[in-house]
Amino acid sequence: MKLVQKPFEMSALAACWRGQGLKIALVPTMGWFHEGHLALMRRARQSADRVVVSLFVNPIQFGPGEDLAAYPRDLQRDSELAAGVGVDVLYAPSVTDMYPTGFQTSIRVAELSKGLCGAGRPGHFDGVCTVVMKLLQQTQPHLAVFGEKDFQQLAVIRRMVHDLDLPVEIVSHPIVRETSGLAMSSRNSYLTEEEKEQALCLYRAILFAQAKVTGAVQPLSAEEMCSEIEKMIRQVPGCVVDYVEIVDADNLERCETVNENSRLIMAIKVHERVRLIDNARLCVV
Ligand code: PAJ
Repeated sequence: MKLVQKPFEMSALAACWRGQGLKIALVPTMGWFHEGHLALMRRARQSADRVVVSLFVNPIQFGPGEDLAAYPRDLQRDSELAAGVGVDVLYAPSVTDMYPTGFQTSIRVAELSKGLCGAGRPGHFDGVCTVVMKLLQQTQPHLAVFGEKDFQQLAVIRRMVHDLDLPVEIVSHPIVRETSGLAMSSRNSYLTEEEKEQALCLYRAILFAQAKVTGAVQPLSAEEMCSEIEKMIRQVPGCVVDYVEIVDADNLERCETVNENSRLIMAIKVHERVRLIDNARLCVV
């Protein structure tokens, strides 16, 4: 596996591959790899001749007071993990190469970025879109793989790609969980074992909602289900709800009743320090 750090070098390599008719896949990440990231890389490996994983802790998607400085970083560890699943290039540009003095362009997907995580993290998705656009430009992939873990991010990126006619296929991958059910996240490394147990309220909420939907004989009110879930989470020490919503999976608009395209989507704060998200399809059979 090759480590590339300069954007011009990455672009030249991608152009060379393109010239040879090779299919390129990109997996954008911020590093501190876990099985969720590795699953995306394996998915990319299946569909492309060359797999590029970008590793860049993107400062412009963090708000003031968020965990930019604390975000876990270990290039050596991540290189070994990526090499182990057959990644061709680990692309890890520096902040100054990505955002040199004078940088002032931003991409905003106006509506989809507003609610859910966008409400509590203003500007977050603008930062995500801007960096993903740059990474797509630099790596020229035929496909890019994103996890359903960040469900709103996936919807926002799909919209950007569609709206800007970008010639890339966006492939999504289901959420990878610990055996306990906790969705894997680089931010889980901030949690103690006890806090991880408390954070399982997210997964319990998903199981609760799915069980309700499976047993339902008439359409369920989304609002009622959300308030029941909020009540459940409020009972867990240290957990504070940011939002619990049931939305349409395509446009992220609130559902009145749970239907086959509904997605339960949640964010909580654990012990005022760690913000966790989770989501699941609410399948009406
Ligand atoms: P990061 O949080 O490192 O996540 C990189 C990719 O891994 C995202 O597509 C995310 O959805 C996916 N992912 C994370 N945990 C997962 C899990 N448990 N199961 C499946 N997929 C999972 O998301 C970002 O970085 C950044 O916002 C980025 C897109 C790289 C832009 O900076």
